[in-house]
Amino acid sequence: MEVRKTPAFFILLLLPLISITTDVDAFRGGVGGATVHGRLVVCYVSTWSVYRVGRGSWSLDNLDPTLCTHLVYAFAGLDNRTNTIRSLDEYHDLEDNYGKGNYKKMTALKNRYPHLKVSLAIGGWNEGSTNYSIMASNPASRQTFISSVSNFIRKYGFDGLDLDWEYPAKRGGAPGDKENFVHLVKELREEFDKHGWLLTAALGVGQDTVDAAYNIPALSRYLDYIHAMCYDLHGSWDKRVGANAPLKSTQPDDTLTVEYAIKYLLKQGAPARKLVNVPASPKGFPGPYTKEDGFMGYNEICVNISNGWKTFWDDNSMTPYAVQGNKVITYDDERSIAEKVNFAIKLDLAGTMVWSVDTDDFHGDCINNSGGGSSNYPLMRTISRTITETLKEKQEEEEVDKKQTGHTTEQPSAACRHEAMLAVLVTPFAVILRMATV
Ligand SMILES: *[C@@H]1O[C@H](CO)[C@@H](O)[C@H](O)[C@H]1NC(C)=O
Ligand SMILES: *[C@@H]1O[C@H](CO)[C@@H](O)[C@H](O)[C@H]1NC(C)=O
Ligand SMILES: *[C@@H]1O[C@H](CO)[C@@H](O)[C@H](O)[C@H]1NC(C)=O
Ligand SMILES: *[C@@H]1O[C@H](CO)[C@@H](O)[C@H](O)[C@H]1NC(C)=O
Repeated sequence: MEVRKTPAFFILLLLPLISITTDVDAFRGGVGGATVHGRLVVCYVSTWSVYRVGRGSWSLDNLDPTLCTHLVYAFAGLDNRTNTIRSLDEYHDLEDNYGKGNYKKMTALKNRYPHLKVSLAIGGWNEGSTNYSIMASNPASRQTFISSVSNFIRKYGFDGLDLDWEYPAKRGGAPGDKENFVHLVKELREEFDKHGWLLTAALGVGQDTVDAAYNIPALSRYLDYIHAMCYDLHGSWDKRVGANAPLKSTQPDDTLTVEYAIKYLLKQGAPARKLVNVPASPKGFPGPYTKEDGFMGYNEICVNISNGWKTFWDDNSMTPYAVQGNKVITYDDERSIAEKVNFAIKLDLAGTMVWSVDTDDFHGDCINNSGGGSSNYPLMRTISRTITETLKEKQEEEEVDKKQTGHTTEQPSAACRHEAMLAVLVTPFAVILRMATV
């Protein structure tokens, strides 16, 4: 849709602005409405969050749709017997047999929040790579898959599909996956163009993954946005403590940073406006809600921190960490999120993506502890606020430049601008923390 190389592009870009006047709710909660700045805020929803205990349980009722421009329902799966897309939790997703019908509940949000686009993600870590590798390897099974996707999207009212194959040519995939992934994306694009649907993909950002799995120039041609998963760059697998999603590093040869990963993708030919940037996740010890060793949601971390953990800021990675006894949590907070969003907008990326909205402090349980916060969803609000502030800063810099030189900085030609707009930088939302025992 908006980022295709078509003349309609510039017109469509205005849509988020128009929605300001039609969506009165956009200003609920003051600053922070994602609909006001015109950049993407892509919110992944991990639907199993509903099964978390106590105040960790998250359902669509807890969503503030004004903080996102795009929602991504994670995840659907692939049935390898039929090469068709399928629900991985029929009770939660579907209405059949008295199910909860969350597919339709999420897409129905568009009626009240017309600025929203709602996509369905397929894949994710637990689905592995092998089934996708086999499906993508032959034109007939790709076609079967694509027509099943098309029916599925239409049936439930989604606006598009997000491919989360983790990862082509890795984790049991085959070397041919890199090329077959391009075929798959190209053929999906042909089908999606008939319906005006959005086609995106979440890409791993480790340099070895990028090299083995992705033909970036080709993918950029067919995808509307690339969601660059800029987190899990370090974890307990390193056997040492490191920031989960370091923005930068003082080591010149350190490739495991958000900055390096994004610049590497851009160098490979991903258009900035197609990239969206995502913050953090880890192993070590479990949190009370997410219960997975090495990972904790921000909503768990902020509660723990308020119970006497000491917090520090690491200037090297531009991220905070918290320490108690022999335990360390590296994570993202309002300050580090703001740094990442600022970085993405300065590079003129399409926006920011968050993994995942259900691990922000959505109840506002920590508002009295965190110092700066004034409401629930402190990280989501920080994203929207920082986008607005950074865009304003950029505009002011341009004006100063204009006054000093007497003329505008040379604008790229229309053709170049078009090209640049194709890339959306998906930055993971640094919501999940990395934890490790020292
Ligand atoms: C492949 O798909 C089948 C069912 O369609 C599933 O049982 C299996 O777990 C999948 N493979 C992997 C590695 O997840
Ligand atoms: C589906 O996946 C399962 C588990 O990964 C595997 O054992 C089976 O052979 C696969 N079936 C087909 C038709 O590929
Ligand atoms: C975090 O806080 C919860 C709730 O107070 C507690 O049960 C848990 O043990 C704490 N975790 C750590 C690692 O301190
Ligand atoms: C935060 O402070 C307000 C005002 O003092 C109080 O009403 C509220 O209960 C507090 N919330 C928490 C989570 O402690």
